[in-house]
Amino acid sequence: MEKLTVELGARSYPILIGDGLLAEIGAHVAPLLKRPRTMIVTDSHVADSYLARVGASLGAEGISFSSFVLPAGEGTKSWDGLARLTEWLIGEGIERSDHVIALGGGVIGDLVGFACSIVKRGCAFIQAPTTLLAQVDSSVGGKTAINVAAGKNLIGAFHQPALVVIDPTTLATLPPRELGAGYAEVVKYGLIDDAGFFAWCEANGAALLAGDGEARHRAIAHSVAAKARIVAADERETQDVRALLNLGHSFGHALEAETGYSDRLLHGEAVAAGMVLAHQFSAAHGLCSAADAARVRDHLAGVGLPHSLTSAGVNSGGAALAAHMAHDKKVRGGKLPLILTRGIGQSFVTDAYGLDAVAAFLDGQQAT
Ligand SMILES: NC(=O)c1ccc[n+]([C@@H]2O[C@H](COP(=O)([O-])OP(=O)(O)OC[C@H]3O[C@@H](n4cnc5c(N)ncnc54)[C@H](O)[C@@H]3O)[C@@H](O)[C@H]2O)c1
Ligand SMILES: [Zn+2]
Repeated sequence: MEKLTVELGARSYPILIGDGLLAEIGAHVAPLLKRPRTMIVTDSHVADSYLARVGASLGAEGISFSSFVLPAGEGTKSWDGLARLTEWLIGEGIERSDHVIALGGGVIGDLVGFACSIVKRGCAFIQAPTTLLAQVDSSVGGKTAINVAAGKNLIGAFHQPALVVIDPTTLATLPPRELGAGYAEVVKYGLIDDAGFFAWCEANGAALLAGDGEARHRAIAHSVAAKARIVAADERETQDVRALLNLGHSFGHALEAETGYSDRLLHGEAVAAGMVLAHQFSAAHGLCSAADAARVRDHLAGVGLPHSLTSAGVNSGGAALAAHMAHDKKVRGGKLPLILTRGIGQSFVTDAYGLDAVAAFLDGQQAT
């Protein structure tokens, strides 16, 4: 088992990574509890495979628990899902010192984290992520949210978990498309500031996706360490440091919006294409070499991820796509900060380019 720490002073917390860890989660949870009781929240897919395992482990430590199974899918991260979950937690007699276990992907993690930020003005929670995306990204850092009619993640809070327990063997049951989408976020850490890790991805990404346990473990540990470092440096994204995690996301969100936030294009798939576009935009403006942009595209294409507007299934004009970006919640004073790059592993934040430049660039990317 590997142990990392997110260094946030009094709110610091450990991240445990180990094959088979879900079967011993009780032993790691027990020391945190004031009374031997907890609540597990999960979704219908994850419950089938892992709820019994987690329950047995808690039982072995003498911890009683109740569980709440929500429908799988992004729709659960909603006012309705939040209402149902918070009412259930209150009905279960939750106390502020209790720790709720979020067992599932980013949807469950984001929803449970937000619910726990407001129930009784804040109670504790534990992340037990079961998707690659959640294991390398959403379970660490304390961003929690639900979606509303006006957009994704618009209602939420910063609320750090008390513990993150990552069992990479859960990826064995994850659908391949979900695995690929999570892998895009792994590659992101290399592209942000770690050219050596990007080269590692080029060499090992295909094996990771095919099921290589060692490659999975290494990628998760490396990614989560990078995320922990970035979060510790800029917990609430008040400087540009945490904003770097949005590499590929502004372009990606435009693609997600254009495809209706549907399973036509998963978030990570949109991020893959978005990262290629960010590099190509950078190359087009003389910031990075065309060779680096091509390397990014070739790797993501090579592992079967979308790497262009066409492969992302989007054939809208640049103006329509840029219009989506204008609604991004990161817009400041009418300008959208973009994450661009000077080369692989050399990303930076800038608001030097207007959305008209983005629209013109995207028009030139059609049918490439
Ligand atoms: N808080 C953050 O910092 C942050 C960062 C990135 C993304 N997110 C959010 O995360 C969400 C996406 O997370 P996600 O990609 O994990 O999606 P998800 O939670 O919907 O999981 C994807 C699918 O996989 C299923 N699943 C989960 N684990 C499984 C397993 N081990 N085996 C089989 N099936 C399994 C789920 O039931 C679901 O159908 C989005 O709402 C996004 O906004 C949050
Ligand atoms: Zn993302």
